[in-house]
Amino acid sequence: GSRSFVPAIVVGTGYGAAVSALRLAEAGVSTLMLEMGQLWNQAGPDGKVFCKMTNPDRRSTWFRTRTEAPLGSFLWLDVVNRDIESYAGVLDKVRFREMSVYVGRGVGGGSLVNGGMAVTPLRSYFEEVLPRVDAGQMYDRYFPRANAMLKVNSIPADFFESTDYYQFARVSRTAAGRAGIGTSFVPNVYDFGHMQREAAGTVPKSALDSEVIYGNNGGKNSLDKTYLAAALGTGKVTIQTLSRVTSIRRESDGSYVLSVERSDPFGAVLERTEIGCRSLFLGAGSLGTTELLLRARETGALPDLSARLGTGWGTNGNIMTARANHLWDPTGSRQSSIPTLAIDDRANPTHPVYAEIAPMPAGLETWVSLYLAITKNPERGSFTYDKATDRLGLDWTRDQNTPAVDAARSLFDRINRANTTIYRYDLFGDTRNFADDFCYHPLGGCVLGEATDLYGRVSGYRNLYVTDGSLVPGSVGVNPFVTITALAERNIERVIAEDLPDEVRRTTP
Ligand code: FDA
Repeated sequence: GSRSFVPAIVVGTGYGAAVSALRLAEAGVSTLMLEMGQLWNQAGPDGKVFCKMTNPDRRSTWFRTRTEAPLGSFLWLDVVNRDIESYAGVLDKVRFREMSVYVGRGVGGGSLVNGGMAVTPLRSYFEEVLPRVDAGQMYDRYFPRANAMLKVNSIPADFFESTDYYQFARVSRTAAGRAGIGTSFVPNVYDFGHMQREAAGTVPKSALDSEVIYGNNGGKNSLDKTYLAAALGTGKVTIQTLSRVTSIRRESDGSYVLSVERSDPFGAVLERTEIGCRSLFLGAGSLGTTELLLRARETGALPDLSARLGTGWGTNGNIMTARANHLWDPTGSRQSSIPTLAIDDRANPTHPVYAEIAPMPAGLETWVSLYLAITKNPERGSFTYDKATDRLGLDWTRDQNTPAVDAARSLFDRINRANTTIYRYDLFGDTRNFADDFCYHPLGGCVLGEATDLYGRVSGYRNLYVTDGSLVPGSVGVNPFVTITALAERNIERVIAEDLPDEVRRTTP
């Protein structure tokens, strides 16, 4: 037929995808990126591209009729969520039986919705998780490259200490200090110069007006402003939006054919097409990439994929919890949406925890200290694919999160004891103190060196690569996108040097 053909396709536009597309384009390879979400560059009726966390509309959520904010309740009241029109919004909550996973949808993937925390893992932790990756090279070359490209910066200490917007973090630092536990600043891709201008009133407020999880209208250097802008700037990259890859097969000449479903932002399918390519890079995230490959294996389209595919999945030990402060310790009615400080107990020999002090941007005093704790949970889940229903499943049980809850509890019990404070019971839907049924940091499914070789080349097939968070075996001990980016930089450098013939580089669009 008259199916179109391109030298390289990258599926997704998140971290791994964006790195791969930029470096391929720089090497001269014409590259097509396929993204199921929208390009977020048009202002809505309110003059803003993204809606606020505290007043969400259809832009907030991926095809639901009600928003699904992670902190749905306050005093058990569902005060945050709103009924909305079903639409290709920016944040998705993917529900599996005993675990829900939040992911970003749109050009930039998770970078559109995330908190921007850009943390390089402790080298010792990295070496434990990925022992066969040369850590010397990672820390000398690829982590610095990722940090520079992502525009990672840190909050100036004088601004942090003096602004009302970080009172909530200073209160938590004092509470941790009473228990003898230290804190450290958390680097971020949010431009702190911009944040200071927000505080001064010279630019519209974004982080200082509760913008995060549904997108930021200013200050955040999401991928569309960094890697993807650079990729498009080469003139060799095209991004096709609202285009979901539904399946992958291989032709007898070794090329790949993708089935692509193009929709309008209300979900109506406009067309189904097929696009061929020589080299295929999967950057659809832990869930998306694993699903595409499992489907290909189970339907017989790519039968030689590894039996390890789908395994090694983890939540990066994510647990949220909250403490109630005394009335004389207010956390402030004005809170920046961008976390900048962590209670850092990573050196703890039994329960290492990195607990980010998160805002509770309610616009009123709540006396709540909220935390996203990243713990070390050795439990792993596996993805399953059911051919009859065409559904991705996740074998992960609630009790597999017990080690993570225990670790978080061990830290916050100490802090509560030292401060004679208690946990909040009202924030996570029922009377739980620990939110252990959702995560922000899905990792694994196509683990490096297991379902792929040590550079993300998919086992069993040539010219097929995994570039994203599915390579990381379930845990990195800190927020993952810097690691995903640095690994993608490392892998694509090798692939370009070894796998791409000169003809591919010379192909013009
Ligand atoms: P990523 O998920 O970014 O991108 C995948 C893309 O592929 C998406 O755009 C998706 O729409 C698209 N896609 C999927 N399937 C497809 C298909 N079949 N066809 C076409 N397109 C498809 N991390 C961190 O380091 N610091 C932080 O502060 C935070 N905070 C945070 C908050 C929230 C609310 C969330 C949800 C997540 C975070 N994270 C985070 C996690 C971080 O965002 C995440 O680890 C990365 O975005 C993962 O990058 P990937 O490259 O793996 O894929």
